[in-house]
Amino acid sequence: MKAVVYEGPRDVVVKDVPDAGIERPTDALIRITTTNICGSDLHMYEGRTDFETGRWFGHENLGEVIEVGAGVDKLKVGDWVVVPFNVACGHCKNCERGLTNYCLTAQPEPAWAGAAYGFADMGPWAGGQAELLRVPWADFNCLRLGEDAEERANDYVMLADIFPTGYHATEMAGVKPGDQTVIYGAGPVGLMAALSATIRGASKVMVVDRHPDRLALAESIGAIAIDDSAVDPVEAVLEQTMGLGADNGCECVGYQAHEPDGEEEANLTMNRLVGSVRFTGTIGCVGVFVPQDPGAADDLAKQGKLAFDFGMFWFKGQKLGSGQAPVKRYNRQLRDLIAAGKASPSFVVSHELPLDEAPDAYRHFDARDDGWTKVVLKPGAGA
Ligand SMILES: NC(=O)c1ccc[n+]([C@@H]2O[C@H](COP(=O)([O-])OP(=O)(O)OC[C@H]3O[C@@H](n4cnc5c(N)ncnc54)[C@H](O)[C@@H]3O)[C@@H](O)[C@H]2O)c1
Ligand SMILES: [Zn+2]
Ligand SMILES: [Zn+2]
Repeated sequence: MKAVVYEGPRDVVVKDVPDAGIERPTDALIRITTTNICGSDLHMYEGRTDFETGRWFGHENLGEVIEVGAGVDKLKVGDWVVVPFNVACGHCKNCERGLTNYCLTAQPEPAWAGAAYGFADMGPWAGGQAELLRVPWADFNCLRLGEDAEERANDYVMLADIFPTGYHATEMAGVKPGDQTVIYGAGPVGLMAALSATIRGASKVMVVDRHPDRLALAESIGAIAIDDSAVDPVEAVLEQTMGLGADNGCECVGYQAHEPDGEEEANLTMNRLVGSVRFTGTIGCVGVFVPQDPGAADDLAKQGKLAFDFGMFWFKGQKLGSGQAPVKRYNRQLRDLIAAGKASPSFVVSHELPLDEAPDAYRHFDARDDGWTKVVLKPGAGA
């Protein structure tokens, strides 16, 4: 089968790899029809993780079940499914509590938790930027889709990661009807957080970034765009909230946060959130931060540490939630919002391309080139 193989920093190639197949009775084999490039892939693509060469990415996957193991009960060949990026067993201490983001079985390192397809430090699982994907514990991990699965694949595929992740940011931030919410980052995840805040009834959603195309997408769903290359974003949020600050905030950027001129400062968005969110407000951080970052600009960040404004955070009595999103906690309800026509997360999609064009797509998406907001790859299509 063909896959998008990582050969080193900023170097991916589409080439033949051994076919994925059923390895255990609880597996399913999926023919991937839609698989996205994610901002999380870029951390790995840029060589800012220890992702191994020769492996392939792809944790936002949708397709058709073409084979099931003897122990699979619910799924049938021919079902259309979207697969949460978290690989989870369903029966460990964390999975039983709904914390599929920190599965203890799917992560082989005994001292760690959490697993994902095609991801650094998240277990051996192959990615879905390929023609086939093996899904372990398939009954637990696959979410079945209805008859409109193929037709609305670009909406449903967002259930694998970014829509539930954006929703999780707003859940951790405690967004309630009437709230004023600020979101740092207008990448696909930040835009999904903005959509989720709106679904949850926020009265005002403010989105901070510096890319006009991404800010325009935020405005297209009714959010207020704040361009931090033109204004001080903390001041802008205070102005929008009568000087008090937002009720809650979402971090949707991660450890490669930078100034508009490109200068990296890992603490930038977290400290700006402390400044932008009111006394007693809550912050949900889904942007990825890592325990070590040898490629970082400064010594603190190399050790995975932030100069965090903890004094001000404490003084304001704020709260903070962080980590990978437990996709399974939300994907079924969000699927039904899509099916009912009440949410259309595909508004972020800028490019729909065959798998062969992935190397070029990675280059453009990594450069955050104008108009490249979200790439959806279609293995089996064209080329
Ligand atoms: N927690 C999870 O489960 C989970 C899931 C998916 C993605 N993520 C992470 O979420 C983050 C965002 O993902 P994405 O796909 O949207 O990535 P992306 O890289 O496409 O978007 C990030 C955006 O942040 C903006 N940005 C950079 N510095 C900024 C700053 N100082 N202030 C405001 N905006 C700034 C960039 O201009 C860009 O538009 C990444 O770290 C990704 O790894 C986490
Ligand atoms: Zn993702
Ligand atoms: Zn588990």
